[in-house]
Amino acid sequence: MRIGTISDLHIDRNEDMLKRGESFAQLVAEVLREKRVDRLLMAGDISNHYLTTHTFIEEVSFLSGVPVHFVPGNHDYWARDHEVTDTNTIDAFFNQKTYSLVNNPVLLTNEWTLVGSPGWYDYGYGNHDRYSIEQFDRKQYGFASWNDKHYVNWGEPDQVISHKMLNQLRQDLKSVGRRKVILMTHVATHPEFVMPLPHRVYDYANAFLGAQSYESLYEEFKTIEYSIIGHVHMRKILQEKERTFITACLGSHKHWKKFDVKNQLTKSLVTFDIN
Ligand SMILES: [Fe+2]
Repeated sequence: MRIGTISDLHIDRNEDMLKRGESFAQLVAEVLREKRVDRLLMAGDISNHYLTTHTFIEEVSFLSGVPVHFVPGNHDYWARDHEVTDTNTIDAFFNQKTYSLVNNPVLLTNEWTLVGSPGWYDYGYGNHDRYSIEQFDRKQYGFASWNDKHYVNWGEPDQVISHKMLNQLRQDLKSVGRRKVILMTHVATHPEFVMPLPHRVYDYANAFLGAQSYESLYEEFKTIEYSIIGHVHMRKILQEKERTFITACLGSHKHWKKFDVKNQLTKSLVTFDIN
């Protein structure tokens, strides 16, 4: 079975890059066909509107005939362009969909399972010599602000949400027993997938890129053979002993060298085979 993975399509932000007559769903379906993908894993940040994200997933699945599995990213939770300001409502919306992995591990083959959660940042990768937890909680430093501050509202501190999602992952990982696992989170769960410190901006911003506490899962569950990460807008594969970490972000067109959506989708979508 061939797995394909991609994340951070930001189809609204990148919309202007489409040629006349093109759509993101149709292009993704084409790439899936060309790469002979059997299952698509999307690690969040499809758009800034949960309904746009939902419609897109359904469209890709319909056009390609490929089942899609998804965890939301922080942008999919944003309430900038609609009135659903309680993030828990959007979370519940996604969680009841069949494509959601939360509390819903998927048996891919006899040997392989798929486990996932959006995961939430716990500030662990920020520079704690320079900033306090209170400063990270403010999500505003000098001129720079982390925009989840304005558009995401869990009603609880980030670190509490992060911990809840970690517990959910732990439970789901336990439930699949000794099967091999593909783990998918939106946030980074490995230090190689955030920016090296010290750094003028990322001493602060790294706090919002990942969940350092989730690293404990790799010690606890040797069954995790693949770990798929979104959010960080990198395209990178890291092999660490028996385990492969993948981030396959389309990312913002501002960072593309060539302004061709199909080409960028082809380059960012990573495939691997399991049996
Ligand atoms: Fe993100």
